[in-house]
Amino acid sequence: AACDALRRRMAELVAAFDPSGVTTVFRTDDQGHGRDAYFLESGDKIRFFFEPEAFDASGRLRQAKELSLNKVGHALHDLDPVFDEFSRDPRLAAIAAEIGLARPLLIQSMYIFKQPHIGGEVHCHQDSSFLHTLPESCVGFWFALEDATVENGCMWAEPGGHRRPLHQQFVRHGHGTRLVTLDPEPLPVDGLVPLPAPAGTLVLLHGRLPHRSGANTSDRSRHAYALHVVDGRCRYGAENWLQRPPNMPPRGF
Ligand code: FE2
Repeated sequence: AACDALRRRMAELVAAFDPSGVTTVFRTDDQGHGRDAYFLESGDKIRFFFEPEAFDASGRLRQAKELSLNKVGHALHDLDPVFDEFSRDPRLAAIAAEIGLARPLLIQSMYIFKQPHIGGEVHCHQDSSFLHTLPESCVGFWFALEDATVENGCMWAEPGGHRRPLHQQFVRHGHGTRLVTLDPEPLPVDGLVPLPAPAGTLVLLHGRLPHRSGANTSDRSRHAYALHVVDGRCRYGAENWLQRPPNMPPRGF
């Protein structure tokens, strides 16, 4: 029921969203700066990101906006009351405490659509590359809002891979971003196992666990909600892509 409430709320947000300005950002700026700014400034907003394959050669959406989005992020949990309530469920606070997050801060939220046919692959990565603290503390709370299967692009992960070093760090660089290699050993391409997940499943992701998800080759969507938490005892550096303004600091559960 909680997953269905999130899906209904997202359908309302998408219905109210006017894509015209955003499709301009995504298609007409050859330098990518508009796209970078739209992304880099989304840490304290609710913004809408499209699948690259959603557009035709003239830059128009091929299909309805609700079937064209890749994700919505990255402050749903602070700005929308339905997402706020879901994200601050006491059961999640209890899990965070059990795994040693002494001062959990809800830093990022994403609604992921993995659309039928055009939902693209997400390459193997470690979440601590994108939300980096010293010492590392990032944990992902990933919820299957619909049944996730191999066919519709479930996650895959490397058993025991959380014991690997952190391979890369994604950092701000001028008006854009770049990936800095911290440890030269590449992340695995083989040996990952699928994590099929019925709707309502929570997958808890260690920040160093290599994981990916496949393209959605099916005609069924694979909606998911991902909430990322860091420990407020750790230093969250200015090099992180996601920055909150002073008047909207990340909060706990
Ligand atoms: Fe991830």
